[in-house]
Amino acid sequence: MSVTLEKGIPIASTCMMSFSGSPNHILYYPRSYPHSLIVGRTGSGKSYAARYWMYQFLNYYPNAKLYLLDFKNEFNFPQLPRYYTNFDCVQGMKSFVKEMGERQESHNVDKPPILLYIDELSALLTFLDKKDAETFRHGISLAYMVSRAQNMFTLTGMQRADASNWVAGARDNISFVMLLGEFSKEGCEMFSLKKENMGACPYPGMGHILINGNSNSLLKIKIPFLRDTQKIDRRIIEALT
Ligand SMILES: Nc1ncnc2c1ncn2[C@@H]1O[C@H](COP(=O)(O)OP(=O)(O)O)[C@@H](O)[C@H]1O
Ligand SMILES: [Mg+2]
Repeated sequence: MSVTLEKGIPIASTCMMSFSGSPNHILYYPRSYPHSLIVGRTGSGKSYAARYWMYQFLNYYPNAKLYLLDFKNEFNFPQLPRYYTNFDCVQGMKSFVKEMGERQESHNVDKPPILLYIDELSALLTFLDKKDAETFRHGISLAYMVSRAQNMFTLTGMQRADASNWVAGARDNISFVMLLGEFSKEGCEMFSLKKENMGACPYPGMGHILINGNSNSLLKIKIPFLRDTQKIDRRIIEALT
């Protein structure tokens, strides 16, 4: 049996320089950490970080596809086949789950990677009616259970990661967490972190990475300044089409 090593995708850099002066990258391994989270207050840089994350995912997997559920229409993209805003995000979740089911049924071995990004999950669930919120939560929990085997991965952005946003226990499937900006004592406790162990994050795009919920993995990070956002958006739009 041959084992192929998964490529790591740089999605942030550490706040320390290497000896050569270049930044050290934080690598994201989708198959090892299939479900990830970006948490932070409004303005902490979540959508900006997600934009970079999606773009880097596409750089590493040129044949990948994206689903983008953008409740607040922050990305402000035109109508695209896999781009959903406002209450249509429920339809977006249903389409993702449908594609997952089709892949499970299919014997085609060629399953290009798919990344689903949900922006502002807690806001979305707050505004949905009870039935749609339940449909959405169940979609996420199904994705957490089966999507990895279908080469499908999820990334979620939200302001507070209360466990009540998920079906009971589902939150434990998230192995890779990016915490952006400053957190309250209570916000830290949601991740079993102590506020005094967190570095200062005064500017947007500064934060920490937490892997497998282990506070010893906590690393201070920053998201690079994106020089050409138009180019990035063009690439994201292509993968949503
Ligand atoms: N890494 C970064 N480098 C430079 N500016 C950033 C960075 N991240 C965020 N910003 C700035 O902060 C603003 C708010 O970021 P945004 O991603 O919209 O926050 P959030 O989605 O958490 O509310 C952005 O419009 C951008 O101007
Ligand atoms: Mg945002």
